[in-house]
Parts: sequence; structure tokens; C-alpha cells
Amino acid sequence: MKTTAKRISFVLAATLAAGSAFAASHAMEQQEAREALMKEMGKNLGTLGKMAKGEIDFDGAAASAAATALHEAAEKALADDMWSEDSDSMSVDGSRAMPEIWDNYADFQEKGATLIAAIESAQAATGEGLQAVQASMGDLGGACGGCHKVYRAPEE
Ligand code: HEC
Repeated sequence: MKTTAKRISFVLAATLAAGSAFAASHAMEQQEAREALMKEMGKNLGTLGKMAKGEIDFDGAAASAAATALHEAAEKALADDMWSEDSDSMSVDGSRAMPEIWDNYADFQEKGATLIAAIESAQAATGEGLQAVQASMGDLGGACGGCHKVYRAPEE
């Protein structure tokens, strides 16, 4: 009986300790995950951009794969659970997420939705050929820049 009680209190203590460590590092982990996803988005946008500019040969399958990977990364990067208020640039070292995001959260989400819509158009365009992809690039790049201009702090 005594041993069981001891054991339970040990498990509880261990769980609580793990819980508070998680809370302290959660914002940092979230920021790092965001950064990795945004980089993945940049890489795939880069592939589409190079094809659009003729720097690499247009290949419908490769373009479609890049657009799909961009879509997946963007869905994850822009999900609510990636943006807790304590992960802003004032709270986490290396974070470029401006506090204004949380003052205007509905607008931030709208800019995210604009990006998803632009990616979906680009995805459709990859099935239509190079010219369609070229035509979709303006909205796509504009959707990234439209959010960064307002909500991403300059690099230090
Ligand atoms: C709704 C807003 C929003 C949209 C849309 C958006 N981003 Fe970002 N992006 C951010 C914010 C905010 C940060 C800073 C995040 C941080 O430091 O925690 C960021 C950071 C980045 C970074 C820097 C990552 C690093 O190394 O620190 C890259 C690269 C990036 N975004 C690429 C893109 C690309 C490419 C697109 C479009 C395909 C895009 N983003 C669309 C808000 C957005």
C-alpha cells in the first residue's frame, strides 16, 4: 500500500515536471516548427518560380509535386496551433512574428486564406502548362509578401 502511494506520487511529480518544461519550451518549439515550414514553402515556391522564369525546364509533374508540397506546408504553417501569442518576436529569441499578428488576428488569418487560395490556383495551373503557371505566380508571391510586409519583422 505504502509503496503504491509512493509510486503514484513519483509519477505525478514526474508528470508535473515534464508539463512545466513543456510549457516553457512550447513557444520556442512552435517558432522553430514555423520557421522550418516557412523554409519548406520558400523551397517549393522557388522551384515553381525557376520554372516560370525558364531557369529550369518546365515539368508538369515536378511543378505539381512542388505545388502540393507547398500546400501541405502552408496548411501546417498557418494553422492556429502554430501561433500562440507567447511566441512573438518580443517573447522568443529569433522569432520574427510581430506582436501585431495578435492585435489583428482575423486579418492575419485572412492573409493565410488568401495564400491557400493562390496555392490552389497554382496547383490547378500546373496541369495546364507553363503559361498558366507563369500567370499564377504573381498572386502567389503577392500572398507571401502581403503577409510578410505587415506581420514579419525584418531580419536582425
Ligand atoms: C499569413 C501570414 C504569412 C503568409 C501568407 C506567409 N508567411 Fe512566411 N512568415 C510569416 C511570419 C509571421 C514569419 C516569421 C515567423 C517567425 O519568425 O516565427 C514568416 C517567416 C517566413 C520565412 C523565414 C523563415 C526563417 O528562416 O526565419 C520564410 C522563408 C517564409 N516566411 C516564406 C514564406 C513563403 C514562401 C510564403 C508564401 C508561399 C509565406 N512565407 C507566406 C507569415 C506569413
